[in-house]
Amino acid sequence: MRNAVDLRVDLAGVELKNPVVMASGTFGFGREYGQFYDLSELGGICVKGLTAAPREGNPPPRIAETPMGILNSVGLQNPGVDAFIAQELPFLRQYDVKVIANISGNTPEEYGEMCEKLSEAGVDMIEVNISCPNVKAGGLAYGTRPELAAEVTRMAKEHSAVPVMVKLSPNVTDITEIARAVADAGADAVSLINTLRGMRIDIATRRPILKMNTGGLSGPAVLPVAVRMVWEVAGAVNIPILGMGGVAKGEDAAQLMLAGACAVAVGTACFADPYAPLKVRDGLAKIAGEQGLDKVSGLTGSVRPW
Ligand code: FUM
Repeated sequence: MRNAVDLRVDLAGVELKNPVVMASGTFGFGREYGQFYDLSELGGICVKGLTAAPREGNPPPRIAETPMGILNSVGLQNPGVDAFIAQELPFLRQYDVKVIANISGNTPEEYGEMCEKLSEAGVDMIEVNISCPNVKAGGLAYGTRPELAAEVTRMAKEHSAVPVMVKLSPNVTDITEIARAVADAGADAVSLINTLRGMRIDIATRRPILKMNTGGLSGPAVLPVAVRMVWEVAGAVNIPILGMGGVAKGEDAAQLMLAGACAVAVGTACFADPYAPLKVRDGLAKIAGEQGLDKVSGLTGSVRPW
């Protein structure tokens, strides 16, 4: 009988027991999903995007279904970094799972302050969000300009005692330009892709469905875009990649790993099936086993382009 596939992967020095991480903004702080299964089954949990002060987010409607996906314009609703540290981190720390804090700032200094607080509080990694399409300050304003992306990365690195991963936006002409800028500024890893900007209109009222008019598209529809961008970024930088965008099953995750990701995040799929991350993990193990690999990490970057 074939030995079990080793599912451990290394994400910039953080060892994940398996390559499946919960994508920020789709898993809250884990409490709801903890009613379905033991959160220690996961490789990592990337928590809802945190800001320096609490935020109520954007006005509703802020979610709209699309064929093969959803649009969201949540607007970074969250309790703020201090409340996360006091109330949510102790809950997550009960589990044997890596905790990744996703942060968004209005200024590079705010990113630095949050990195300091969170690394002192004991998160395992920080995901610097420069790609939220639903806020006016910060977010995409940093993620679409290489020099600003680099400035935020430098600030985060200066103030963080744990590895810093920068979350990239697909809403750019050339994602490798931003990836190179943050890698040169010292990022330990990159994660991609965040959502693609989109819009739906109610033809009867002629009003956009989302109150903010536009939102970010996620779900199975974006997987091919994510695979293409992970492949491009893997060819451009030498830091690890957390791949995400439309992952719902093992085959999806395997494509992102073949393209160059060392781990994958599952997001929108959880809304339809809370068990999706466990199915992705088991599916990946099966694929790796069937392909004769003893380690799932053997998939990373092994695409054979024509
Ligand atoms: O609107 C939001 O809260 C989304 C955040 C993100 O895409 O990073």
